[in-house]
Amino acid sequence: MSGFVEKGIIRVHNHVGPDIWLMQIELPRIAKEAKPGQFVHVKVNDPRYILRRPISIAGTDAGRGIVEIIYRIVGKGTEAMSHLKVGDTLDCLGPLGTSFDMDKDHIVGIGGGVGIAPILFMARASREGQMTVVIGGRNKEEVFWKDLFPKKVRQMIVTTDDGSYGIKGFSVSVLPKLFAEEKVDEACVCGPGIMMRTAAEMAKEAGVFCEVSMERRMGCGIGTCLGCVCDRKDGKGHYKVCADGPVFNAEEVVL
Ligand SMILES: Cc1cc2nc3c(=O)[nH]c(=O)nc-3n(C[C@H](O)[C@H](O)[C@H](O)COP(=O)(O)OP(=O)(O)OC[C@H]3O[C@@H](n4cnc5c(N)ncnc54)[C@H](O)[C@@H]3O)c2cc1C
Ligand code: FES
Repeated sequence: MSGFVEKGIIRVHNHVGPDIWLMQIELPRIAKEAKPGQFVHVKVNDPRYILRRPISIAGTDAGRGIVEIIYRIVGKGTEAMSHLKVGDTLDCLGPLGTSFDMDKDHIVGIGGGVGIAPILFMARASREGQMTVVIGGRNKEEVFWKDLFPKKVRQMIVTTDDGSYGIKGFSVSVLPKLFAEEKVDEACVCGPGIMMRTAAEMAKEAGVFCEVSMERRMGCGIGTCLGCVCDRKDGKGHYKVCADGPVFNAEEVVL
């Protein structure tokens, strides 16, 4: 299934962090089907931008038919999105892609930058005490995300590069101790490439199964244009991040 096209009314659109916006859109079919790790392919309401933009689903409320996304303004498409108003409609295709394995008893979710969004969806969908969350940012302003996480997470660890909030250092720096002291069944990682690579190496060293969410520029979003490929670790070619991913076993992709 390659998702549904739904034109949803924007119900909430708030500036929540440095260049970061949170949007809630009424997309009942997508809200009902979406799983943590999946994304919506958003058509910006501006005829100058033909290609859709992939944005992770940060949470859903299936009862109210709401999908939440959190995005950073990095270019013209996301800039145009930031000008949309509550009551405007947004054309979304989704839910697309693969999802994180949520069956394990103790999952450590590690997120950096806007890569925290799918980890937030995982935490919201998790069972009481199932997840430990590790998020990092450059400074206190960048870790505003901490307040969005539900109380049911087992432990919330926040790091900042400058030490202005939580533990000083990169998010991955806490992983060796965490993996050594607790029984961890799975690590799920989304963020900058270097962070995912390091987290995946640390998980492997500790014998912890690891899934990563890959990011590539996308065209179609449904596996037909080959615009989003990443290399397979077994040397047998490529995966399409939109359709084979974005969530992969860290052992199967070149990070
Ligand atoms: C599966 C997936 C989930 C994503 N989830 C989120 C999310 O939850 N929140 C969020 O803010 N962003 C997310 N992104 C990234 C988002 O898609 C891009 O930031 C967005 O498409 C940029 O559009 P633009 O028109 O503003 O920028 P453009 O004008 O197209 O590009 C501006 C700059 O950003 C770079 N860029 C554009 N797209 C990407 C990309 N996919 N990866 C790396 N660099 C890129 C370009 O090279 C350029 O330097 C996700 C991407 C993927 C693949
Ligand atoms: S974006 Fe077209 S194949 Fe992935």
